[in-house]
Amino acid sequence: MTILSVQSTIFSRASVVLLSSNGLKRFSFASSFSSNAVYSSPLPKMKKRRYPIVSAVDIGGVTIARNDVVRDDDPTNNVPDSIFSKLGMQLHRRDKHPIGIIKNGIYEYFDSNYAKKFEKFEDLSPIVSTKQNFDDVLVPADHVSRSLNDTYYVDPQTVLRCHTSAHQAELLRKGHRRFLVTGDVYRRDSIDATHYPVFHQMEGFCIFSPEDWNDSGIDSTLYAAEDLKKCLEGLARHLFGAVEMRWVDTYFPFTNPSFELEIYFKEDWLEVLGCGVTEQVILKQSGLDNNVAWAFGLGLERLAMVLFDIPDIRLFWSSDERFTSQFGKGELGVKFKPFSKYPPCYKDISFWISDSFTENNFCDVVRGIAGDLVEEVKLIDNFTNKKGMTSHCYRIVFRSMERSLTDEEVNDLQSKVRDEVQRKLNVELR
Ligand code: PHE
Repeated sequence: MTILSVQSTIFSRASVVLLSSNGLKRFSFASSFSSNAVYSSPLPKMKKRRYPIVSAVDIGGVTIARNDVVRDDDPTNNVPDSIFSKLGMQLHRRDKHPIGIIKNGIYEYFDSNYAKKFEKFEDLSPIVSTKQNFDDVLVPADHVSRSLNDTYYVDPQTVLRCHTSAHQAELLRKGHRRFLVTGDVYRRDSIDATHYPVFHQMEGFCIFSPEDWNDSGIDSTLYAAEDLKKCLEGLARHLFGAVEMRWVDTYFPFTNPSFELEIYFKEDWLEVLGCGVTEQVILKQSGLDNNVAWAFGLGLERLAMVLFDIPDIRLFWSSDERFTSQFGKGELGVKFKPFSKYPPCYKDISFWISDSFTENNFCDVVRGIAGDLVEEVKLIDNFTNKKGMTSHCYRIVFRSMERSLTDEEVNDLQSKVRDEVQRKLNVELR
């Protein structure tokens, strides 16, 4: 399993898709924790919901209303309530949360090795323009990451950032030269133990001027690439101790050359970050033609799962004390002791798909209904009949991390999934 292909670098995929509206409209809200959210007044009894709908969230002191981000009948908007409710959570700013502990550990490394020369940003709004998220970092017009299937769109010009690289150009334009940007990022994806539609990244950016590389005897690109590798190898050692690591060449639209760092962990090579030497065009846009820079982006959940032995990505969102009480400020790498594992409940659903069907749309519907009670969604059968109709069968694994689910409750969730899938995704149940 690799972090960046698991959950952090869609940009290394070179494939392209045609952009199309996916017809997503409305999702019921499901989430199992409290946030900086303002809840709307109690719903009428008839509309019984498991959880309240969040009517507004607070992002760094700015109140964002639900109706500005979730637009039920607008086909250019695909943000469900379950995602909106995560907007103000900022797990990376909690010192006793594994994500905050890892972030602080990385800060410590940069502060002590670079004399606090890296500025830190961790409160930039995750609602950004498509220009910031894509154009500014040279993501091609037909790149798969721009599709409604991969990214949450508020409207055709506004998205929930899918990477912290969305802030590179803006910070450069404002005159910042060395920085770390930490934040929540949003990606539509499948459902399993290592995928969650919201996770956290840290972006690092460092610029050099001719006097830095002039005496080195090597050219500026090579100089930056070597400095980058040295910096990140040191960071990996700071977090993981004496580990075996290797560099793998890759592709990102915004760096060249581009690399991924893998570390050997639990008998497997694990990708821990993507990075590279910044494309010169990006520097030129900010009048920095004579400079060279490097950048990296790392996925904090993946690092934390490894460091703290956390088996399921949903746990990061749990407010269960049996989880939260195990972590303390500055305690990098204590091992998580799993509390009892509750039994899973498997439900299959089969339907004839339509041309516009995508697995990510299906997963958003399931999450919208079952929230964090869904552990995995797996395609277990797929065939096309003589008439050219394609059938998919998915196995949904329901399991709470906090309690046993009753048959009645799971049947109820499954029946809602069947209704909604039919209603929203234009499929024919079998
Ligand atoms: N933004 C990339 C991603 O999320 C990671 C990255 C950042 C790669 C900076 C190179 C440089 O996939």
